[in-house]
Amino acid sequence: MLEVSDLMKNYGRKQALDGVDLRVEKGETVVIMGPSGCGKSTLIRCINRLTEPDSGAIRLAGQPITDLNLHELLAVRRKIGFVFQHFNLIRRLTALDNVAMPLRLQGVSVEEANRRAECALGKVGLGTKLQDRPDELSGGEQQRVGIARALALEPEIMLWDEPTASLDPILIGEVLEVMEELVQEGNTTMLIVTHELSFARRAADRIVFMDKGRVVEEGPPQQVFEHPTSEIGKKYHQLLRH
Ligand SMILES: Nc1ncnc2c1ncn2[C@@H]1O[C@H](COP(=O)(O)OP(=O)(O)O)[C@@H](O)[C@H]1O
Ligand SMILES: [Mg+2]
Repeated sequence: MLEVSDLMKNYGRKQALDGVDLRVEKGETVVIMGPSGCGKSTLIRCINRLTEPDSGAIRLAGQPITDLNLHELLAVRRKIGFVFQHFNLIRRLTALDNVAMPLRLQGVSVEEANRRAECALGKVGLGTKLQDRPDELSGGEQQRVGIARALALEPEIMLWDEPTASLDPILIGEVLEVMEELVQEGNTTMLIVTHELSFARRAADRIVFMDKGRVVEEGPPQQVFEHPTSEIGKKYHQLLRH
C-alpha cells in the first residue's frame, strides 16, 4: 500500500530525515514512536507532500507520490485521511459542516456530503452534536470531529500525527477508544504517530521506532517492547516496566 525508500529531508542545515525506509501493507496498522524531534511529523507529512522531501521515493497505492504534478497530487490526497495534533476545525462552522466541507470542495453534492458527514460523525459518537460549533465541544469531541473529517473521505490510508497530544489527560481516553474501534474494523490502512504506549501495544500490527531521522527498529509490539534491540526500544521497555 505504502512504500517509502531512502527518504531525506533537511531544513536548512538541520537534518530531519536521514534515509527512511518504510513499508505499510494494505489493512495494516503501523505505529511510529520516537523522541520529540526525531522526524516523525516530517515523515508523515512527506507522504502527502504537505512537506516536500529532498530526495527518496514514496509510492502509495501504486502511485509514485514523489513524481506527481500538483493536479495529480490533489487527486491522490483525496484518498488520504490526515488527523493532526491541532484539530484545525473552522470555528464558525458546525461539526457537520466541518466534516462535509472538504467533500463539497471535491465536488461531492451537498446531500451526499452531508450524508457521509453524518455517517462519519455517528461513527465517532457525535451523532447528536451535528449542529454544535467547535467552541461548544470539548477538546476530545473536537478531535473526534477531526477524525470524522478524515473518515468521511473514505480514505485508503489514514495518517495520524499525535492525535491525542494536545488533549487533557481525561479526554485522551475517548479519542483512543474511537481510534481503536477504527483499527479493529480493519477497513483502512493506518499509519499512526503516538506516544500512547498501551494503545500502541494493543492496536498496532507493527511498531516502528525512529531516532535522529532514521528507523532504528521495527517489529510486532510484543517483540519490540519485550525484547528491544535499539536504544530507543530499550527506553520504551523501561517505561512499560514502571
Ligand atoms: N519547518 C521547519 N523548519 C525548520 N526545522 C524544522 C521544521 N520542522 C521540523 N524541523 C526540525 O526537524 C526535526 C524533526 O522535526 P519533526 O519531524 O517535527 O519531529 P517529531 O515530529 O518527531 O517531533 C526537528 O529537529 C525539528 O526542529
Ligand atoms: Mg511531531
